Amino acid sequence: QAAPVIAVDGPSGVGKGLVTRYLAKRLGFHRLDSGALYRILALAAHHRHLDLHDAQAVAALAPALDIRFIGETEDDEAILVDGHDWTHEIRKESTGALASIIATAPVVRAALLQRQRDFRVAPGLIADGRDMASIVFTDAVLKIFMDASVDERAQRRLKQLSAKGIGATLAPLREEIRARDERDRNRPIAPLKAVDGAEVVDTTGLSPDAVLAVMEGLLRRYA
Ligand code: C5P
Repeated sequence: QAAPVIAVDGPSGVGKGLVTRYLAKRLGFHRLDSGALYRILALAAHHRHLDLHDAQAVAALAPALDIRFIGETEDDEAILVDGHDWTHEIRKESTGALASIIATAPVVRAALLQRQRDFRVAPGLIADGRDMASIVFTDAVLKIFMDASVDERAQRRLKQLSAKGIGATLAPLREEIRARDERDRNRPIAPLKAVDGAEVVDTTGLSPDAVLAVMEGLLRRYA
């Protein structure tokens, strides 16, 4: 029997990282940061000066990339790609924007599908993304869809970036988040939206602790 999956989908800056790290630790499950895979592939294509709209060429890079996720918390996390430390570079909002461009192509999504499913190992997986419940792990035992207003997410992202020493200002960040959202929600393939049966959690105005309390409530119902 396949290991259980908890799917956590939602737009950028909504707090999925906090929630999925918490749940993974709480349950002793593995964690998949699927967005990191899209970011890494986009950056690899960018470094090779590929046209990001040339989906075939971008997808063709995927199989050979040696990707290692090291560490479990935000503080000790490291991401190595072909032996190079990309931990910080992939977190830039500019990389998120590149990721959302390549993510609109079916062949790119197909190239990353098995790689994501490979994270499903015992005792279980917390999967963070946009289409975890709708495509990658349709048999997830719990499907959580997180949402929050664009303003709130821009504020949070600003704090998060400055904590990492990455400089940013609110207005352009807000616009980038809005544009990336629009691409993710309106694309024809795997658009960001809550599936039937998803537990929708609107975190606007909620503190991190309050969000985690909501998650505890959901776990009790599914335990
Ligand atoms: O979650 P994160 O912000 O790291 O994702 C970066 C981009 O990758 C998203 O804006 C989205 O376009 C794409 N993505 C996706 N499907 C996923 C995860 C991320 O299309 N499961």
